[in-house]
Amino acid sequence: MKPDQKFFDIFSIVIGVLVAITFGIYILADSMSEKTQGVYTKETEEYRSQMAERIKPVGEVNLPGADLSAPVAEAAAAVAAAPAEPKSGDVVYNGICAACHATGIAGAPAIGNKDAWAPRIAQGSDVLHQHAINGFQGSTGFMPPKGGGVAFSDQEVMNAVDYMVGQSK
Ligand code: HEC
Repeated sequence: MKPDQKFFDIFSIVIGVLVAITFGIYILADSMSEKTQGVYTKETEEYRSQMAERIKPVGEVNLPGADLSAPVAEAAAAVAAAPAEPKSGDVVYNGICAACHATGIAGAPAIGNKDAWAPRIAQGSDVLHQHAINGFQGSTGFMPPKGGGVAFSDQEVMNAVDYMVGQSK
């Protein structure tokens, strides 16, 4: 009987201490989160605007007479403003033309090679523009339309031609 009693005494004390520690940790964590999360997360402008975004209503009522054109006009203005300036000649040149024209691969006249460019420049810039945009089979090789960079606009390809010509006079 005696050893049993002693075991229960110690066991109860151990359980009691564990329960006390559990509560201690709970209270500590609770007060910590009050002081940190509550202040630094939930009260920040960012958190609040994200929350407002998440819980906003799916639809809004347009009252008669309300001006509905504003958001549409704003969106249209944004779209119109988006495709800004055409890319400059050196950007387009370095983006695609340099692949062949930097060193003169496959019969391409190398940029800066005045001898190779002189007779081409003599054709006039309209011809050079057309050949660059539409492609051109000449005596030294094949120039693919827009050098293969079909995503570039005609104006951008013309800028690149002018850039190459400027570097090769
Ligand atoms: C795949 C290689 C290649 C790429 C990329 C390339 N070219 Fe060419 N290009 C050529 C070749 C080859 C010729 C020479 C064709 C001939 O005269 O036989 C040429 C010739 C030209 C000419 C001279 C045309 C003429 O009438 O003499 C111009 C201008 C030109 N390229 C512009 C460009 C521009 C601008 C780009 C970039 C948008 C570009 N090329 C990208 C291969 C290329």
